[in-house]
Amino acid sequence: MSGCDRNHRNVSIRIDLAAIRHNLRQVRKAAPGRKVFAVIKADAYGHGAGHILPALQDADAYAVAHVEEALAVRQIDNHKPVLVLQGFHTLEQLDECRCVGLWPVIHNLSQLEMIGNSKMPDLACWVKIDTGMGRLGFMPEAIPAVQARLADAQVRVQGLMTHFASADRENDMSIDRQIRTFNATRWTGTIDRSACNSAALLSRSDCQWEWVRPGIMLYGASPFSAETKAAGVLGLQPAMRVTAPVTAIRNLKRGDRIGYGGQYECTGPTRVATIGAGYADGYPRAEPGSTSVMLGNWRCPLLGRISMDTMAVDISGLPVPPPLDYPVTLWGHAQLGVDEIARNIGTIPYELLCTVRGKRSYLDAPREGNVRKFMENSSID
Ligand SMILES: Cc1ncc(COP(=O)(O)O)c(C=O)c1O
Repeated sequence: MSGCDRNHRNVSIRIDLAAIRHNLRQVRKAAPGRKVFAVIKADAYGHGAGHILPALQDADAYAVAHVEEALAVRQIDNHKPVLVLQGFHTLEQLDECRCVGLWPVIHNLSQLEMIGNSKMPDLACWVKIDTGMGRLGFMPEAIPAVQARLADAQVRVQGLMTHFASADRENDMSIDRQIRTFNATRWTGTIDRSACNSAALLSRSDCQWEWVRPGIMLYGASPFSAETKAAGVLGLQPAMRVTAPVTAIRNLKRGDRIGYGGQYECTGPTRVATIGAGYADGYPRAEPGSTSVMLGNWRCPLLGRISMDTMAVDISGLPVPPPLDYPVTLWGHAQLGVDEIARNIGTIPYELLCTVRGKRSYLDAPREGNVRKFMENSSID
């Protein structure tokens, strides 16, 4: 049934590789002299990991969640280190990490048990400390024993890492507690450290240490929910633009209702454009009716409920109606960022970027010259 489902989507997702390069430069500006893990898990936050690697050539390493993702990256880039944030879960994955030279994160006892009494000088890893996230990692007091165990197995430890729970929240003291705990953890000898996600990297310089691990900012979205720290204010450029075509135009009158449940009632003559995108494409149905789309540079409010593959917008303010098929921007416009949609809906840009589905294409501006080329990609989501 593959020809009947996803390949017929109306939604287009255009990824701008030049924006990703720009955002990586912003990372370098915010964390001068640090090494950068470009976080490309969840298919590069929905941007297509395999396609965006050329834009991340200046990163020092990549970070993914799973061994399978790391193996796919290895097929394209055989040189840069790949950090596997969730490490290995099976003996087979442990072997794959060794054979292909991945850097798994070791964060629990069962991984140490898999290493057992073997000697593994060909394994290089990072050790994760739970300083307050309560998700993955050894408690700080266990670290000396973990170090001894890995030394026995001749495993090379590249670095120590932790993850912040609330770096995006202003005046949240938990990050200070986590930094103190990380600093106080005992480790014999010098070792690289890594803690900063995008929010921490953009808001503080006291915990950048040797390696930073930005994800969301590479894609041009803000890790913060405050409008005062929106992506544009932070100097980031959106890498993803999502569009869908106008599929119908209707002239409705006062009292006419729109969409399921008749939730919206026209208060006067209303020109309505139906757009070919809905919750099946990853646009959240929970949208509370306060969001807009961009038709050219016109902001048009949504009317009524989001359906499975359509939504309705008010185009009464436009001087002339758009032609059918006209591409309407759902997010990724200079005046309508994914951050704004996420804020309105009560979610985070991460979720929207990772779950949107459509036909992806890639726009690249070569470093020299001004010719822009599109690389069409047959995959749909
Ligand atoms: C361990 C770890 N480090 C870094 C990141 C990147 O975070 P962000 O996308 O907020 O920069 C993530 C993302 O969830 C993560 O899980």
